[in-house]
Amino acid sequence: MSLELQTDRLLIREWKTDDAEAALRVYGTDEVTSRLTPELRPLSDAEAMRSVLHAWIEAGPNLMPPAGRWAIVRKDDGEVVGGLSLKLLPPYEEDFELTWALSPDVWGQGYATEAGRAIISWAFEQGIEEVFAVARSSNERAVAVARRLGMEWVGETEKYYDTRLQVFRLRPA
Ligand SMILES: CC(C)(COP(=O)(O)OP(=O)(O)OC[C@H]1O[C@@H](n2cnc3c(N)ncnc32)[C@H](O)[C@@H]1OP(=O)(O)O)[C@@H](O)C(=O)NCCC(=O)NCCS
Repeated sequence: MSLELQTDRLLIREWKTDDAEAALRVYGTDEVTSRLTPELRPLSDAEAMRSVLHAWIEAGPNLMPPAGRWAIVRKDDGEVVGGLSLKLLPPYEEDFELTWALSPDVWGQGYATEAGRAIISWAFEQGIEEVFAVARSSNERAVAVARRLGMEWVGETEKYYDTRLQVFRLRPA
């Protein structure tokens, strides 16, 4: 599903393989990948990042809408500053999970909250009834984003990724 959303400061759009250098500043850093669920190893170089982006782009049309993976671009300078995804949570693949990742040099500016708000409102327009976010309790920044987005804490579980996670949920107001 092809998507382009604008917020005050950001553009949310499909990934391009030419985003590899910028995306590496996000997914090539241990600060980001160690906090993702499931945890990843940082991508080693732009070529590896390009392959991953290629795989994400190829997989896109086969995902169940409104699932997808998108780049977060700062409108001021056109810089890719992060990524967002909406994906079905294992093992039942019924619940949509929102994930965010920002290049560490732009943490603390509200971009994850701004992008998250836009994607959630678009996802609700597509007809889904709830969006989840999961994070380890030690991932204070992710928990704070979920709270800023108005998500409600609904419990903790190990059922998704074999690690204890806090679960947050938002339903349309
Ligand atoms: C999770 C993650 C995206 C959060 O990034 P973040 O920059 O802390 O979150 P936001 O972009 O919402 O920014 C919030 C901060 O910006 C500040 N801020 C500034 N302007 C703001 C604005 N216009 N709107 C909201 N917040 C604003 C807030 O006060 C807050 O500051 P604080 O960090 O001092 O409390 C980031 O830490 C990350 O990429 N982590 C690794 C991956 C990850 O853990 N993903 C989540 C699990 S999938």
